[in-house]
Amino acid sequence: MGIELDAIYWDNVYLDDILLQIRKIKKYFPIKRGILKKTVGWIKAVDGVDLDIAKGKTLGLVGESGCGKSTLARLILRLTDIDEGKLIFEGREIQSLSDKEFKPIRKKIQIVFQDPFGSLNPKMTIGETIEEGLRVLELHAEKRKKRVKELLEMVGIPASGMDMYPHEFSGGQRQRIGIARALSVNPLLIVCDEPVSALDVSIQAQIINLLKDLQEAFGIAYLFISHDINLVGYMSDMIAIMYLGQIVELADSEELFRNPKHPYTNLLLSAVPEPDPKKKIFFKLKRQTDTIEWVEHGCKFWKRCPYASSECKETEIPLKKISSAHWVKCIR
Ligand SMILES: Nc1ncnc2c1ncn2[C@@H]1O[C@H](COP(=O)(O)OP(=O)(O)O)[C@@H](O)[C@H]1O
Ligand SMILES: [Mg+2]
Repeated sequence: MGIELDAIYWDNVYLDDILLQIRKIKKYFPIKRGILKKTVGWIKAVDGVDLDIAKGKTLGLVGESGCGKSTLARLILRLTDIDEGKLIFEGREIQSLSDKEFKPIRKKIQIVFQDPFGSLNPKMTIGETIEEGLRVLELHAEKRKKRVKELLEMVGIPASGMDMYPHEFSGGQRQRIGIARALSVNPLLIVCDEPVSALDVSIQAQIINLLKDLQEAFGIAYLFISHDINLVGYMSDMIAIMYLGQIVELADSEELFRNPKHPYTNLLLSAVPEPDPKKKIFFKLKRQTDTIEWVEHGCKFWKRCPYASSECKETEIPLKKISSAHWVKCIR
């Protein structure tokens, strides 16, 4: 099977500028019941996703909790095995590489997690944590120390913080440390999985601005994941809207806010609930496991869609291009 280079790419970006191509990737988790743990169904956490991440740009990924964002992040980092599909990083397929073959690529793709506390070792000083990441660069001990200092200063932590432990820092500072650790190996891509969701609103902007500054300084690409569409809008060049494991809309950031097409995108964008009860788009959010039967056929959004027709219940259509930087998965 050849690489489908034409499946999706940004019109304003040359193919050479594409860092990571995600092609038709899938991850299903079995739902097991009873003492025999029989598989009774599948959670289609990531269900055929196609996306491109361009060098030095930010692709935002938005969707409700449980729609598969973190699973997609884990697949990209190879923290979870892919069931199907391809990951093409700098023109090379990486999904089937052995751990040894993947090692040099590993440092080019880093992650910043939602919970910086859970992802920092409480028994290690901040300096040790960052230095550990630096090991792969095989620097001399003295150079490593210098680099740790540099990294901390880059993210706004005084170098004296090196000898302190994670609990001695605030949530925002810990997230800065998480960012320093990700930066330490000079990555080309950082996957930011809800990087500010656990922080106070007043701190969120500081972290977001830090990420933006670092991107400008080092040309790092981000996959910026959040359930908050406005935050993603502020961060991203391009935005993908995810619903039950699938991308339902993909557009240039400005275009998405100016001209949202998918009913689900409109739902995410509406800050105030729709007063008209006939437009039943404000159904209580359901977990994917609760909805597994009714999404088996047709459009996955039809139960919540105010415009759903009988066709929507039966036929599922692919993500279709509607203008130069805008794709929608909807028959309307
Ligand atoms: N390791 C796992 N085993 C079984 N189900 C999982 C696992 N990881 C995630 N899921 C399920 O996959 C779906 C997507 O989860 P996740 O990717 O964490 O969503 P999000 O990050 O958008 O909140 C959810 O229904 C979740 O329960
Ligand atoms: Mg998540």
